[in-house]
Amino acid sequence: MFPLMFISSGRGISLCTILLENAFILGCVFLLPSVSGQQPLETLLVGVDHRAVTSLNGEWHYLVDQSPGRALYTSTGEINDKSYAMNEHPNLVGKHNQEYDFATAPTLKVPGDWNTQVPQLFNYEGVLWYERDFESQPKPRTRTFLHIGAANYRSHVWVNQKRVCDHEGGYTPFDCEVTAILNPGSNFVVIAVDATRLVDGIPSVGIDWFNYGGLTRDVSIVTVPSAFIDDYDVHLAHGSKFDPDNTELTGYVHVLDAPAGTAVTIDLPEAGARTTVDTDAQGNANFSVRARKLTLWSPESPKLYKVRLTSGDDELTDDIGFRDIRVEGTRILLNGKAIFLQGVNMHAEAPVRGGRAYSQNDADTIFGYLEELHANFVRLAHYPHDERMERTADRDGIMIWSEIPNWQHISFDKPEVYAKAVVMLDEMIRRDRNKASVILWSISNETPNNPTRTRFLTDLANEARRLDPTRLITSAIIGPRPNGLEMVNNDPLCDALDVIGQNEYIGWYDMPPEDADKVDWTFPQKPVLMSEFGAEAKVGDHGPVNQRWTEEQQVYVFEHQFVMLRKIPQLRGTVPWILVDFRSPTRNIPRLQDGYNRKGLISEDGQKKKAFALFQRAYAEHSLGKAE
Ligand code: GCU
Repeated sequence: MFPLMFISSGRGISLCTILLENAFILGCVFLLPSVSGQQPLETLLVGVDHRAVTSLNGEWHYLVDQSPGRALYTSTGEINDKSYAMNEHPNLVGKHNQEYDFATAPTLKVPGDWNTQVPQLFNYEGVLWYERDFESQPKPRTRTFLHIGAANYRSHVWVNQKRVCDHEGGYTPFDCEVTAILNPGSNFVVIAVDATRLVDGIPSVGIDWFNYGGLTRDVSIVTVPSAFIDDYDVHLAHGSKFDPDNTELTGYVHVLDAPAGTAVTIDLPEAGARTTVDTDAQGNANFSVRARKLTLWSPESPKLYKVRLTSGDDELTDDIGFRDIRVEGTRILLNGKAIFLQGVNMHAEAPVRGGRAYSQNDADTIFGYLEELHANFVRLAHYPHDERMERTADRDGIMIWSEIPNWQHISFDKPEVYAKAVVMLDEMIRRDRNKASVILWSISNETPNNPTRTRFLTDLANEARRLDPTRLITSAIIGPRPNGLEMVNNDPLCDALDVIGQNEYIGWYDMPPEDADKVDWTFPQKPVLMSEFGAEAKVGDHGPVNQRWTEEQQVYVFEHQFVMLRKIPQLRGTVPWILVDFRSPTRNIPRLQDGYNRKGLISEDGQKKKAFALFQRAYAEHSLGKAE
């Protein structure tokens, strides 16, 4: 079992806090021993992409440590600090020493998955070691962190032979403090990344997407003053009812290691809002300030404001939009106005280029498709995507569903797995808390309807509300099994949700397509998003509507879906599965799938299928559903 390593002094969540808060985890104390030797993560820096950093992106040397990963794991499963982390070189004469050498090893690009860079590593899901040298000039009264945007799945980090942190989770950022270890001049970092899927992992072993391994997002060195802003929340005050005249901005700024009474200034010059408040003993400076002039963020006007935060020697300016999102009965209200979400699902896979998406180009390509589709919403499945996706959505006025990968079968009965989920939830919310585009936090997808799962996810939904009371909580529900043409969603998990996501594949996995016309759905009195529906088509394959994998049949399935969807009174959004065909290890029909899930409206190389035009028309005409 891979222990968690998120022991924080700031706003982070410590393993014990999580465990102690959750009564049903009596057995957990025994877990702690294996936690020993884990390097605590001091904090998680918010707004790093708005700080001056030293990028470590580029070519990194790599060495493969095939299963059982003997360079990384000792025979008792502990982390081996005395092997490749030492970054030594083999003696070519004299005494035998090491049998590895990063200096002469090949390189991989970072950020990027290893699978699409080296053909021999295409299907590799194990341990791979990265190494690179870097220069540093440590300054007095500063602290330095190694910031990793994401590394899939487990990673262990050494700087100058000293282990500085460990992390589990392939899709959220983490920061490792290196202040005490840096040398003036040359330094080196070694990172072991283990992409092995774990039964007790999140996600677990059986996934319907490609398990790209590696340092898949930006890596950088961040230097900040010794007391610095590591977390902040600036949002439109969220009263019990939406008030169009409400221009009160509120939130907090957390200054790590600042003595109580430290001044913090929050300044929005363009909105005519500025206030200075003091930190409390925990470093929190809570504030509320009126903005003299404020344009609320919406798809029609995705207005972002420069928000300048200063405290002591530290300063950070972020681009933040302000909007109100809430549910009233079965309606979703954005700034008090009922909305209908015209969406689509997307995996973090780069269209055309392939591989894990990580660049602004990847984001611009995807958002270009969304614009062509007349979409105002995207579900980032099934895990947090690169932060550029949220930044681009903020810029372009696209609303977002962000999710942690509690995908189908998770070890819901294991307290340590619940603790992992809480850390991933905290990391997701902390990174994107100030993104106006993000309106929904999703805690899971298609999980089996049983009491242990429902308890786990209900606790998680409440934890999400504790962390962020200003957004809506959702989950994608699968089932019920059709009862004839009656579909009654009475899943108890819906009680814990603000918005119900419903996945269904009528016309593809279940029933002939035309039967959808006659299907009637019953839902709890909450807003419903059809969070997945669709059919597979191989681009360029044409034929009669009853011939599977043809573009015509995919359109035919959707046309009958539209009849069914228009009958659902509380339907507040449609999110077809999926924008672009994506790699999946479980899709192995030669010629038709070749390792791809083909439910995309666009093929993996960017060719639009007929279904793309169908949705383009339906979304241009706003013909799939009503906001109220
Ligand atoms: C599921 C699941 C997706 C999967 C899709 C499919 O609903 O959530 O991850 O890819 O179905 O079967 O295509």
